Amino acid sequence: MKIDSLAPTMPGVSDRIETEPITERPRGATTVRVGVIGYGYWGPNIVRNLHALEHCQVLAVCDKNPAALKRAGKSYPGVKLTTDFAEVLKSPDIDAVAIITPVWTHFELAKSALENGKHVFVEKPFTSTSQQAEELIELADRKNLRIMVDHTFLFSGAVRKIRDLVDNGTLGPLYYYDSTRVNLGLFQHDVSVLWDLAPHDLSIMDHLIVEKPEAVVATGSNHLNHLADMAFITVYFQSNVIAHFNVNWLSPVKVRNTLIGGRDKMLVWNDLDPDEKIKVYDKGVDITKAEGVYDLLVSYRSGDVWGPKVDATEALKVELQYFIDCILKDQTPMNDGAAGLRVVRLLEAAEESLQARGRLVKI
Ligand SMILES: NC(=O)c1ccc[n+]([C@@H]2O[C@H](COP(=O)([O-])OP(=O)(O)OC[C@H]3O[C@@H](n4cnc5c(N)ncnc54)[C@H](O)[C@@H]3O)[C@@H](O)[C@H]2O)c1
Repeated sequence: MKIDSLAPTMPGVSDRIETEPITERPRGATTVRVGVIGYGYWGPNIVRNLHALEHCQVLAVCDKNPAALKRAGKSYPGVKLTTDFAEVLKSPDIDAVAIITPVWTHFELAKSALENGKHVFVEKPFTSTSQQAEELIELADRKNLRIMVDHTFLFSGAVRKIRDLVDNGTLGPLYYYDSTRVNLGLFQHDVSVLWDLAPHDLSIMDHLIVEKPEAVVATGSNHLNHLADMAFITVYFQSNVIAHFNVNWLSPVKVRNTLIGGRDKMLVWNDLDPDEKIKVYDKGVDITKAEGVYDLLVSYRSGDVWGPKVDATEALKVELQYFIDCILKDQTPMNDGAAGLRVVRLLEAAEESLQARGRLVKI
């Protein structure tokens, strides 16, 4: 076990890393060797899942906080520990790096990882700016390396089921997507609630609604420091589909509710319900033009309610298995850098709108 002196904090992150020639993986290799940077709140979940996967070996865990490394060492005695991220990024034994650090470090660490020939698994939101995301995508393309952005919910049983219901036409053409993701905290030091919680919902929306968003309106407010702690975001599409998100760190109760309305069926997803996460309602409104009778005839449909079975496998397990498969099979993941960039573009537009108290910002 090795615990070096504390790694530098930004802005010096990139200063310490020199580019080395790409380490070629031996042809026909069947195991991906991973180094994980960041073992704070979320990092342990990544290491636990990677560690349990076949065809994957966690070779090293890096955190600049020695106390975090101590925890990692206790759970994974055989894993190399270091406070110096450059050791992970430069190791010829490591094929892929998982970056589970605060948002403002993602770009520099991911860039160095790619420059050193490593595939990258990086936390949401992908980067702090769309320019950074574009640079990383270009770099990965040039080096034929994979980027996967941790849009965890796409791999949950609930979202996989909802995607099926959308794709197979059960809901009919979509009318709206409306989600509430509120709780007390956890306040982040470097990003607002918009950049912390909304990436989940924006990535789900991006996954379910094929149409490209056209414009964003966001309002919000801050009460405890300079970062917004509540935000209301509306995303417009060229058609009449509309999406709305409520994210809030100042809610006394935790709510994870999403309504998805379609012409033929409507759906409620309560992620906190352990048994019936999704309910599909055969409810709707039909309007018929009737000549001579005031013009409109409205009829309300209220049929059966159905609770489809939802796979309970941990989303991160599914996602990380997919990451390893994509590397071994040389495939581009669906939650690649481009997917990360689409979310960052929406966040930038929402941030601009929020700062201008709800001005419409075109994408
Ligand atoms: N996908 C999800 O559901 C989900 C959930 C929580 C957090 N996250 C994301 O995970 C990332 C980390 O969040 P967190 O809550 O774990 O943060 P955290 O602050 O709890 O942990 C980050 C860790 O990174 C370490 N670190 C920071 N800079 C480093 C560097 N240069 N070298 C080595 N170690 C460094 C810190 O010491 C800390 O232990 C964020 O991007 C966040 O958005 C995702």
